[in-house]
Order: sequence, then C-alpha cells, then structure tokens
Amino acid sequence: MLQKKRRIVATSALPYANGDIHIGHLVEYLQTDFWTRFQKMRGHECLYICADDTHGTPIMVRSRNEGITPEELIARSFALHSKDFEDFQIAFDHYGSTNCRENRELSERIFKAMREAGSVTARVQPQLYCEKDSMFLPDRFVKGDCPQCGAQGQYGDSCDICSATYAAEDLKNPVCTLCGSTPITRESEHLYFELEPQRDFLREWIPAHTAPEIANKLLEWFDEPLRGWCISRDAPYFGFEIPDYPGKFFYVWLDAPIGYMASLTCWCEEHGESFDQWWQNPAAELYHFIGKDIVRFHSLFWPAMLKTAGFKTPDRVFVHGFLTVNGEKMSKSKGTFIKARTYLNHLDPQDLRFYYACKLNSGADDMDLNLDDFIGRVNSDLVGKITNLASRGVQMLHKQLDGRCGQMDAEGRALCEKARARADAVAAHYEARDFNRAMIEVRTLADCANQYFDGQSPWLLVKTDPEAARSVMTSILNIFRVLTIYLKPVLPDYADKVARLFNESSYCWSDLHTNIEDAAVNHYTYLAKRVDKEAVDKMIAESRENKQPAQPATPGIESVREVIDFETFSKMDLRVAKVISAEVVEGADKLLRVMLDIGDGRPRQVFAGIKKHYDPAALNGRQVVMVANLAPRKMRFGLSEGMILAAGNPDGGLFVVSPDQGALPGAGVR
Ligand code: 2FM
Ligand code: ZN
Repeated sequence: MLQKKRRIVATSALPYANGDIHIGHLVEYLQTDFWTRFQKMRGHECLYICADDTHGTPIMVRSRNEGITPEELIARSFALHSKDFEDFQIAFDHYGSTNCRENRELSERIFKAMREAGSVTARVQPQLYCEKDSMFLPDRFVKGDCPQCGAQGQYGDSCDICSATYAAEDLKNPVCTLCGSTPITRESEHLYFELEPQRDFLREWIPAHTAPEIANKLLEWFDEPLRGWCISRDAPYFGFEIPDYPGKFFYVWLDAPIGYMASLTCWCEEHGESFDQWWQNPAAELYHFIGKDIVRFHSLFWPAMLKTAGFKTPDRVFVHGFLTVNGEKMSKSKGTFIKARTYLNHLDPQDLRFYYACKLNSGADDMDLNLDDFIGRVNSDLVGKITNLASRGVQMLHKQLDGRCGQMDAEGRALCEKARARADAVAAHYEARDFNRAMIEVRTLADCANQYFDGQSPWLLVKTDPEAARSVMTSILNIFRVLTIYLKPVLPDYADKVARLFNESSYCWSDLHTNIEDAAVNHYTYLAKRVDKEAVDKMIAESRENKQPAQPATPGIESVREVIDFETFSKMDLRVAKVISAEVVEGADKLLRVMLDIGDGRPRQVFAGIKKHYDPAALNGRQVVMVANLAPRKMRFGLSEGMILAAGNPDGGLFVVSPDQGALPGAGVR
C-alpha cells in the first residue's frame, strides 16, 4: 500500500548543560531515536531536533565556582553531551544550544508578540535575597523549615515530608545554600505571562494533545483562575536580557522550549530549507517527547505562548515515566545512578538500546531496568535467539558451502513469508511507540526460526545433502534479514553490519520485499556478544565512586568525590607556601589574587575563592599549603598556577590550612 509522505519534527527535552547525561535521560533520547529512525526508514521526512539547555542560575553558580565563564562551562558540556549521544548511536538531525543568536531572536520575537497581545503584566513581588552573594535566590537555593509541618532542611518551593507547596519567603529560618547566611526579603518587579486569557483555548487543546491521564491532571488547575507565570529573573543571571527591561532576564523555562524552534532554524539554515515549511506548515507534524515532570511547561505554558505569538502548537506531547533501577529510584550510594559515560566504559550501547526497546511502551508509567533481567534479555534474546541465527548460519555457509546462498526450501520460504507478513503489525507498534510489542514480534519470529533450524539440523544435513543444507541456511539468513530490518530503528549499527554482510546498502522498510538468493555472503563480523555479569558489577562500582556532593560547599573547594589509590595520591605535589601578597580581583565576586613563595625563587600566582572569608591583608606573610603541580588554569583574570588548600564547612565556612610554625616554604606536605 502506498503511503503518503509525511513531514515530521520530533524533539526530546533539552538536557541542562550543568549535568552529565545518565541512563535515566536515555529513556527519552533513545525512544525518540527509535521513533524518528523508524519514520525515516519508512521514507518520511523526519527530523530529530534537540539542544543543550544552557541558561539559569545553577549554570551561572557552577561556572563561578569553577572559576570559568558560563560560556566555557556550556561549551564543555556540549562536547561531552554530544559524544555521549553519538556513542549511544542517537542520531539528531540538529543538536544545538539555547545560547545562540537564533534563540535570542526568537525569544525576543515571541516575547514581543506576547506583550503586544496584552498577555504580559508587571508586578512587584517580595523575594529572598542573599546579601553575601548579591543575588535573589531561586527556590532551590534556599533551605529552611517547612511553614506547614516544621520539617527542617526543606527547599523553597515544597516540603518533601508533608508535600506542602509554598513561597520561599514563607520558609522558617531560611538559609542560602550557597553561603549559609540568612537571606533578607527584598521586593523586585517581575513580568508575568497571563494564562487566564488562554483558558478556553487550553481547555480544548490539552485533552486533544495529551494522553487522558495527563490531561485530567492538568485540567485540575482549571477549577480556579489560572495564575500568571513569572517569566523574568533578576541579574545576575546567565540568560537573555529582556528588551526594554535592563537587569531582567528571561527565565530559563521561557527560552528553553523556544530552543526547539531555534535548533530547527539552525537545521533549516544549514540545509537551505524554510522554517515555516517545517513548523508553520499545517501539513507538517510536530511532536515533543518529554518526561512526566515537565508536562506543565509543555502542555500549558508552551502551547499558550505559541498560540499567543501566532505559531503552530505541537500535534502531540508524548509523555513517559521515570527510570528505576532494580525496582528503586536511581541511587548514588547504591551505584545505580549510572552516567552514560560510565555505562559506555563497561558495556555495549546497543545492549541498552535493545533492553529499553523491550521495556518501553507508550504509557507514562515508570520503567524498570533490572540488571539481572538486562543480562538475561541480551544474552538469551539478542545474542542467543537472534544473532546466533546469523553467526551459525554464515559461519557454516563459509566453512562448508563456499559462502554462497542458494534457494530457500519450501518450509523456510513459508517461514520467511510469515515473518514478512508481520511488517504492518511491527510498523504499527513502532508508530504507536509500543516498542516492547515490536520486540515481542521479533522474538516470536526468532523462536520459530530457531525451531526450524534445529529441526533441520543442517550441521548433519551438510554431510549427506550439502545443497539441502545450503537451502536451509539460505532460509535462515533471509528470515534473519527480515528480523534485522524490523530491529533497525533500535539497532542501527547492527543492521548496517548485516546489510554489509549481504552486500547491501543501509536498509529501509521497503527492503523487506526482497530476498537474498543465489548470492555471495560476506564473512561474519561481530554483531553482538554476551553481557558479562562482571562488567555490570564494575559499572556499578564505578558509579558508586562517581558519587558527587550535591553542591560544592565552598567556591573553588571541592569535597571528597571519589576514592583514589595511593599512586594517584602520591602524584600530588603539596608544598608549604608563604603568602607574598593577597589582593582583591577587580570584577570577581569571590576571588583573591594570591602570590605565593614555595622556596624556589619563582613566585606562583593563584586565584583563590576566599574573598568572602579573608581580609587580604590578614593573609600577608601567612604560610598555607598549595597544590604545586596542578595544571595551570587560564581564568578570566589571568593564569592560576595551583590551588590553596582550605577546609570547607557544610555551612559555608571556609578555613585556609596552615602548617604549624617551623615549616619552611617549599617543604613537601604528606
Ligand atoms: O527538565 C529539564 O531537564 C529541562 N532542561 C528540559 C527543557 S525541555 C525544553 F523545554 F526545552
Ligand atoms: Zn548566600
């Protein structure tokens, strides 16, 4: 049946630039990759668009703590994220960054349209402000006692104990999580995007574009007037300054989804295509794949923004659940908070792709990665049932039958037809994002092929009737080829290797109609191998070691992060150093420039994040301990040639480490 060619844009949520990609993120990037690869194989015009989400306070704070610019931080993340995605065979058509010209222009344009529509209002709001850090504190940067139940150590938006939600100013005994001081309440004017004018539109739009359980939850908000959404943040903030509002920046969640449009714009610019033909075209389809935690942004604010600004809204928002590992939330202490890179250090990416496909469906329930089940599925299904068809078949063909296929026998041909007859069912499962059902189809057909294989015993047949054995091998390889085409959205590299085995080019769905008969087959190359339990254990052990403190307690000073062996420790050259001079650094909030003498006649310059804790004059002449062989780091203010050791209290206090009297500059510290 001839299908109409569709034009589709699909997106995954943009990962924050201040964190590593982990296997929880991959639930989304992989399913979007399966789905878009499937659409492409079917001959549709389909783009997979994504980008790094680069703005906001956490990125600004982290870059400050590391003594680098936010631009340097996001460039580093961009490189790491891109490599992780590439190594997991995730094929974006464009992977951009929200910190780009296209995004700024679109954000300004959409904001202007929202203003012109009368949907933006300004209101003065009280907010917590840290005088030490000179900044307003976002909810996640304040902790205190819950105003409802009194539980201690709760964030500024909601209580983990009694689930109350509140304004940060209502927290009792609030503390700034950056410096430990008590914030004050200060008023500031903010811009709000009013949702109430969009009530009727949203009420209709939500159930038509999200799954019923998601829509029902969202519609609960509609019993009361819809509250305006605050879209501005005060300086200092890493983001786009709002036109006509100096010192105010777009809240990261305003420009993040616009990043989908910006990234698509970049793709269009690179390919000489028109943005309007992809986004604004009523015949084109637009889908967002997201996790259930960010539904509000994508199914309430985002369609309202687009509608107000005259843009097409998404055709559907596909919502998935979270990942659990061994039935529990991912845990750093249990080593189940596994970074993409840690996984790659030990295991084959296609195994996770296969396992996730076996588990994923179109619902929003959480999905469990059970590590024993993972090993079992890969070993028994991917390797034992599926790949073995090819490895046994091809190797036998080469060993005893000159590496050539013949004609299929009648039973094998019927089986191959039976496999091919499932094409529409498999396609329907992919289309519906019921990847698990597509995998069941493949597994069931592989079971039939194995029964046929074993029933024919070609390893015996080859001795008495080699041509009959060749026919059996030919059937097996043709069935395997059909299964490979079904698996290609999930196992693209694997499928390409199979195509090369049969001297074919990369498969598309219509290749299901052909058979390989009377043709030479290449030598078998590795397609998949069994997972070793030991490798999984090592990955867990490495993830445990990766454990990071939630926030470095003190700027420039990192807490213990991982266990190192003695050899690594002994590489560190710690020296007693005498402070020759210390001075504040123009333009830096936290740094002092400290000149140190380590007894070799060449003073070392170090930028230390201790300005808030030490009067520079009080450091003069004092002995400290420095890491003398740290690779010099280029900072905005000059070269930093080492690090001064200091103890950082959890409450933010900072204490430079000094030797007792008598130590000489340059003495090694052990
Ligand atoms: O929740 C997150 O990780 C966000 N960075 C997702 C942004 S998605 C989109 F709106 F940009
Ligand atoms: Zn503070």
